[in-house]
Amino acid sequence: MWGGRFDESIDALMARFNHSFRFDQRMWREDIRGSMAWARQLAQAGVISAEERDTLLAGLEAVFAEFADGRFEARPSDEDIHTAVERRLGELVGPVAGKLHTGRSRNDQVATDVRLWTMGAIQRIDDGVRALQQALLTQAEAAGDALMPGYTHLQRAQPVLLAHWLLSHFWSLQRDRERLADCAKRTAVLPLGSGAIAGTPLAIDRQALAADLGMAAISPNSMDAVSDRDFIAEFLFCAALIGVHLSRLAEDMIIYSSAEFGFVTLADAYSTGSSLMPQKKNPDSFELLRGKAGRLIGDLATLLIVLKGLPSAYNKDLQEDKEPLFDAADTLELALPVAAGAVATARFRYERMRAALDDAMLATDVADYLVARGVPFREAHHVVGRLVREAEQRGVALSALPLDVFLAAHPACGADVLQVFNVDRSVAQRRVPGATAPEAVHEQIVQARRCMTER
Ligand code: ARG
Repeated sequence: MWGGRFDESIDALMARFNHSFRFDQRMWREDIRGSMAWARQLAQAGVISAEERDTLLAGLEAVFAEFADGRFEARPSDEDIHTAVERRLGELVGPVAGKLHTGRSRNDQVATDVRLWTMGAIQRIDDGVRALQQALLTQAEAAGDALMPGYTHLQRAQPVLLAHWLLSHFWSLQRDRERLADCAKRTAVLPLGSGAIAGTPLAIDRQALAADLGMAAISPNSMDAVSDRDFIAEFLFCAALIGVHLSRLAEDMIIYSSAEFGFVTLADAYSTGSSLMPQKKNPDSFELLRGKAGRLIGDLATLLIVLKGLPSAYNKDLQEDKEPLFDAADTLELALPVAAGAVATARFRYERMRAALDDAMLATDVADYLVARGVPFREAHHVVGRLVREAEQRGVALSALPLDVFLAAHPACGADVLQVFNVDRSVAQRRVPGATAPEAVHEQIVQARRCMTER
């Protein structure tokens, strides 16, 4: 393919080192689609005849079918997907295959292929994130007004609706989808026509080429176009952050499924047993989801490190862009449906969650009671802090302290202070948009449903 100026053939180990077919063959669809669009433009520009174009298109169609049916036979000499397709095309249609690469370089070709592939991956991952959101939303709808302890620092903080906690994970995924949509805009930009570095000398209509390939725009600078992998870095960041979000959801599910919490029972289908301890049912689905964040972050770091300090335009280092890209996409394409399934089939134990609420979680509500009677919040906080300590010293719940103790704690305290010790009342007061009162959470569910119908 490039042997003209070489006397010796490539060293065997160097060939293995150099070859990317092993991993880039999965872009066969994109490579052939790109070549078909290029052939149409070559004819449009008068570089090849209509007949030659049709021969090339029919040949590319045949190569496509071979890949699709798993019949494509690779040769050891196939350096990458581009050379493999062209080699096979030559075998099928003869010397006219040699005209396909006119005015094009593998530099703009590979950049085009990877962009097309990434556009597809973004779509698939968006679907996966959406399915997980649906699972969370369905659980939130089913939970109704069920209450659970909300934790900060993993310490019991304030009562919240179970639906509120479930939806807290929904919204981080919604931002992931927004980020993916934004990344898709910068991915759907056509590099083809940039040649190796300086642009093609042929009268190619790049806009038409972009439209043919479902891309919205064309790259403005050929030197940038052949070396720009920002869209992959952005995609990998999106993937890494999705991984981080999955890991946080997973961590909640893991601790909530422990005997100590007992808030949720995972379906057998998403758990595994222990080979040693017969009583064990392990939350492996969520542990793996938590662990996958590591490799997703690694994929992003790998690419950024490859890109750092590269000189302008194409360098072979850029061949290292694909494995982290594919790894991240593969990881999420499996992780997301597993997460959706594990969430959808989990059984939340509403009564256990409610039983875990204790009166101390309403200490803030006692302070709020005093504030409503004109006591400055800082002072109220201090007064309630002393009451909490008193309850601890007596070994009783805050609500079990005698009324006298409350009345003595502050002159603003009335006999009605004990009415504060009602978890339903506590959440019902938090009615502002975004808060945990049932009506506010219902509004959140309406919003979330709207996100699910928009694409
Ligand atoms: N396999 C190469 C890659 O993935 C294709 C581009 C090769 N370009 C070149 N000038 N050798 O980046």
